[in-house]
Amino acid sequence: MPVTFALLLLLGQATADPCYDPQGRPQFCLPPVTQLAAVAASCPQACALSPGNHLGETCNGSLTLALGGSFLLTSVSLRFCTPGPPALILSAAWASGGPWRLLWHRPAWPGALGGPERVTFHSTPDPKATVVASHLRVEFGGQAGLAAAGLRGRCQCHGHAARCAARARPPRCHCRHHTTGPGCESCRPSHRDWPWRPATPRHPHPCLPCSCNQHARRCRFNSELFRLSGGRSGGVCERCRHHTAGRHCHYCQPGFWRDPSQPMSSRRACRACQCHPIGATGGTCNQTSGQCTCKLGVTGLTCNRCGPGYQQSRSPRMPCQRIPEATTTLATTPGAYSSDPQCQNYCNMSDTRVYMSLRRYCQQDYVLRAQVLASEAAGPAWRRLAVRVQAVYKQRAQLVRRGDQDAWVPRADLACGCLRLQPGTDYLLLGSVVGGPDPTRLILDRHGLALPWRPRWARPLRRLQQEERAGGCRGVRAPTSSPRPEH
Ligand SMILES: *[C@@H]1O[C@H](CO)[C@@H](O)[C@H](O)[C@H]1NC(C)=O
Ligand SMILES: *[C@@H]1O[C@H](CO)[C@@H](O)[C@H](O)[C@H]1NC(C)=O
Ligand SMILES: *[C@@H]1O[C@H](CO)[C@@H](O)[C@H](O)[C@H]1NC(C)=O
Repeated sequence: MPVTFALLLLLGQATADPCYDPQGRPQFCLPPVTQLAAVAASCPQACALSPGNHLGETCNGSLTLALGGSFLLTSVSLRFCTPGPPALILSAAWASGGPWRLLWHRPAWPGALGGPERVTFHSTPDPKATVVASHLRVEFGGQAGLAAAGLRGRCQCHGHAARCAARARPPRCHCRHHTTGPGCESCRPSHRDWPWRPATPRHPHPCLPCSCNQHARRCRFNSELFRLSGGRSGGVCERCRHHTAGRHCHYCQPGFWRDPSQPMSSRRACRACQCHPIGATGGTCNQTSGQCTCKLGVTGLTCNRCGPGYQQSRSPRMPCQRIPEATTTLATTPGAYSSDPQCQNYCNMSDTRVYMSLRRYCQQDYVLRAQVLASEAAGPAWRRLAVRVQAVYKQRAQLVRRGDQDAWVPRADLACGCLRLQPGTDYLLLGSVVGGPDPTRLILDRHGLALPWRPRWARPLRRLQQEERAGGCRGVRAPTSSPRPEH
């Protein structure tokens, strides 16, 4: 049992991440200090003389070490072949070629013979005074030869890693806090909502994720947007997928619309518009409703049908065209009624125009196109007309057939000019529902109309006839007929 327990404890320690506290919050972390470089030389060394120097004179030595990457130096140890040089200068550069920063300047040790054989330089524990170095230079005076140099330190991970491959070139930090790069010197592509910053013991400065509604894996940091947001957010999502667009992939691309039944983070949040290639003016639709922009007279979400008052045509430019008005002006009749006082208010013609609406059509007893062939007196009150019925646009209860037949007109209605009929002329005849002496007779009187026929009336009348057959006259009541006094 104790063995198992110990093993678990070890595993637990191995999985703990020093870059996060037990609650999972990011915290400052450092990789361990390791041996970074070691140089050894054989002693004694001949002092390299520069030209102009004479034997017996002191000569100055210099050694530059390239560390192969950026490190935080913690200590430098030097060992000399003989008692050390009377003076020693250590400088470090964070990049190749300098600038060199003086680390340690040891002036002459007291005593003529020189300094100690071993010296070790330690960096201060203050993290602000850390020495970041990729190159180290050792300069020393005197004749002492350098036997060995050893450097210790840690990878420069900017407080974002606790592990490091220090021997890799360049050394590679095991970056945490959503940072990346050999030294964790930038934010991962998905976490660029804030600018990258090094961690400090007080502020871990982790990189923060961009909000892309799960439609983008990458974003870039925009400092201007960050400033405008008051330091809250500066990430701009890149390459939004699933037909989304916008800084946060938060709306749909043109040609797609937002399906309200799906959350914005869904892969199906944006649906294609499906605008009809002929009915719509283009492929884009309203982003919230999916409504395509329809051509005139076209309707439907995808613009796939004709709206009310429009019918399909063969023109791709105008796929729906207006149905001609159901109201048709049939004629202008001169208001030339007889001036006989007996005829005052006798004819039922208030206007010189007749508007034929479906309602008016339904109110007629019959609507015919007929030619008047001849006319003769039929008793004191009536005239009989010989007519040839060419078309029946509205049928009455007592059927009217096409062809030659008789029609009766009250003589008074003709005398007052309510109806003017010329033999040999085609007329549109509108019959009133007011009854006559014999229901089988075709009666034409002042309550109806006789208008000289115009061929352009045929189509609107046919349409009214179709509407009647489709039940268009249901609910339109004919004026109640009052029995006509016998003449
Ligand atoms: C040797 O180094 C010392 C101090 O670094 C300097 O003052 C001196 O001039 C140098 N001598 C030569 C010959 O370079
Ligand atoms: C899109 O449709 C919505 C709701 O149907 C409407 O409020 C909005 O004005 C429309 N947008 C455009 C640009 O037509
Ligand atoms: C004239 O005709 C209309 C319907 O067409 C009817 O309502 C009205 O009563 C008629 N007037 C006369 C005087 O017949």
